[in-house]
Amino acid sequence: MKKRILIIGACGQIGTELTATLRKQYAPHKVIASDIREGDADMMQAGPFEVLDAMDYDAVQDVVIKHEITDVYLMAAMLSATAEKFPMRGWNLNMNSLFNVLNLAKEGKIDKIFWPSSIAVFGPTTPKTETPQRTVMEPSTVYGISKQTGERWCEYYFNKYGVDVRSIRYPGLISYKTLPGGGTTDYAVDIYHKAVKHNKYICFLNADTTLPMMFMDDAIKATIGIMEAPQDSIKIRNSYNLSAMSFNPEEVATSIRRYQKDFAISYEPDFRQAIANSWPQSIDDTSAREDWGWKHEVELDEMTKIMLENLK
Ligand code: SER
Repeated sequence: MKKRILIIGACGQIGTELTATLRKQYAPHKVIASDIREGDADMMQAGPFEVLDAMDYDAVQDVVIKHEITDVYLMAAMLSATAEKFPMRGWNLNMNSLFNVLNLAKEGKIDKIFWPSSIAVFGPTTPKTETPQRTVMEPSTVYGISKQTGERWCEYYFNKYGVDVRSIRYPGLISYKTLPGGGTTDYAVDIYHKAVKHNKYICFLNADTTLPMMFMDDAIKATIGIMEAPQDSIKIRNSYNLSAMSFNPEEVATSIRRYQKDFAISYEPDFRQAIANSWPQSIDDTSAREDWGWKHEVELDEMTKIMLENLK
């Protein structure tokens, strides 16, 4: 099979681990990493790398043709908190990069696209718990608006042009390997770093802010899983709800105290509290489980153990 993969945004929180996993799974030379700037030594030495602006159609097309790319994972995006500060930059990056790969696929230059959506597509009027796959969606953030719009375009390109685009609504993602950048769920990574370093943490969300979350290994499994599923098993072409666990900052602190008895947490909520308040607390992902066999593995206490052990 002549599968050749391009990852756009390979140096980001998800892209880093996705690239490493795909390079392990396929031959490293079949997985081309790209980002707006060069990655660290590991990234640069492990396989081919292209410096690439996801918003530059011609540049993306050149890389696709040069490497005979079949599958694109578009992981470049501006996340929720940063996009509130730079609305037009967030909108332009999140939308133009998507149109570039959708149009390359429409022209037959790519076979398959993975594009990440987010729980941010939901808003204050959405049912808060066990949020259904199909429900009210009135996102109140720039990031959420861009992701919801992107979902509509993905479905449109599938229906109109037969573009094989597949998508997941990621919850907050937690990893010890790469830091997140500019999201509302970032506290759930930072808290472990600060626990290991200082045994205390000041949280920018309130104690009882429950949000859907997932350990990175599960997210990578879902990402590659949906891309490798048979085409006719993908029945939803906007984006699949995806769920693993839900917790709030106080519950993470309690989980950390199983290993560090005197870990201290205090709360100083900032503008990100309003973003978090607009998002669901838990997600119903029955469709993903039924259609293409999604199953999560890691729960909060196990994740805490993995995070603390690896950050120490
Ligand atoms: N983790 C993301 C954020 O906080 C949600 O998709 O922006």
